[in-house]
Amino acid sequence: MSNVILIGFMGCGKTTVGLRLSYRLRRTVIDTDKEIEREEKRTISEIFATDGESYFRDRETQSLRKLIDTAANQIISVGGGLPMREENRRLLRELGQVFYLRAEAETIYERLKDDTTRPLLQGENPLTKIKTLLQERDPYYREAADVVITVDGKSFDEILCEIEEKVIE
Ligand code: S3P
Repeated sequence: MSNVILIGFMGCGKTTVGLRLSYRLRRTVIDTDKEIEREEKRTISEIFATDGESYFRDRETQSLRKLIDTAANQIISVGGGLPMREENRRLLRELGQVFYLRAEAETIYERLKDDTTRPLLQGENPLTKIKTLLQERDPYYREAADVVITVDGKSFDEILCEIEEKVIE
């Protein structure tokens, strides 16, 4: 299944890169977070607050299983925590070519310091939380990825060119 899949930490640019890539490659784009919100008719913050993180993690796996049956030649961007589950990493590999958009903690912090939509970063000291989570997650992102793209200090055009050069059609 030759989908292009974008993974990486919150705020690394998956959604924007996914949208722009969909224009350039003329493929449709799917975002697992948006699919879950649409199906649940509520936001991710509401899901976390009402049913907790583990409910959300199960929904992520369900949405990937559904994509295995339906997605081909698409761009798929996934939530930042999704590749932490082993089953999810296996499903991602089955779905297509996986690109890890890698950003430094400081880059992520600058982009998300005023964001209120990521429940995991709403506590005290978000930079420390970002650093801890990123360090924990980076090996899993690398394990899931076919290609690692460093995004710090790069324009979206530069990032898109790098991805396009590596996409296997
Ligand atoms: C999460 C990332 C979010 C969203 C949820 C949890 C995470 O998606 O799935 O808030 O655990 O990193 P984005 O990576 O698109 O922000």
